[in-house]
Amino acid sequence: FYTWILPILLSYLIGSISFSYIVGKLTKGIDIRNYGSGNAGATNTVRVLGKVPGLIVFILDALKGMAAVGIGYLMADGNAAVWMVCGIAAIVGHNWPIFLKFRGGKGIATTIGVTAVLVFYAALISGLLAILFIVFTRYVSLGSLIYTASLPIFIMLVDHGPSTYFWLSLIMMVMAIIRHKDNIKNLLKGKERRI
Ligand code: G3P
Repeated sequence: FYTWILPILLSYLIGSISFSYIVGKLTKGIDIRNYGSGNAGATNTVRVLGKVPGLIVFILDALKGMAAVGIGYLMADGNAAVWMVCGIAAIVGHNWPIFLKFRGGKGIATTIGVTAVLVFYAALISGLLAILFIVFTRYVSLGSLIYTASLPIFIMLVDHGPSTYFWLSLIMMVMAIIRHKDNIKNLLKGKERRI
């Protein structure tokens, strides 16, 4: 229990803290999910509340991912599988938060936090690639998808083959695709919101 269930549960709960929701409530008294894209995330916070609140939300949501891996690391007794599952649990919490009737965000900032800790170099390259796409297209969702889809490739290159982190990043990619279903439809139709 103490080396598996508890750290994973804690990670899920930390992930469930929706900073875009909190910042929306604190600054304007609004539920961010009723505005813009309706997503409880950093991108929509930029859209609805501005750059500074958006940046704050991004950092805090990324920190959730880092904290979850840290908790797993401290509690797991050396079992790497635990801190990886903790990272996933934080993303799941962000996407489906227990405190907000399971309607949260899309998990990208939290994924960035998790991957920055676990697979720094691959995260850096994927991050730069994603930023490039966002700057040129102003579609954050496209950048998010590029980030999660390119990670497994770069992890494989950095690790010289499919390591455990490769499989972890595939799970993250699948979660990102599931959460970006509507974004993908809109991108294909040319109707996606820009930032
Ligand atoms: O990380 C979220 C981003 O990829 C899309 O957000 O609000 O444009 O749907 P949004």
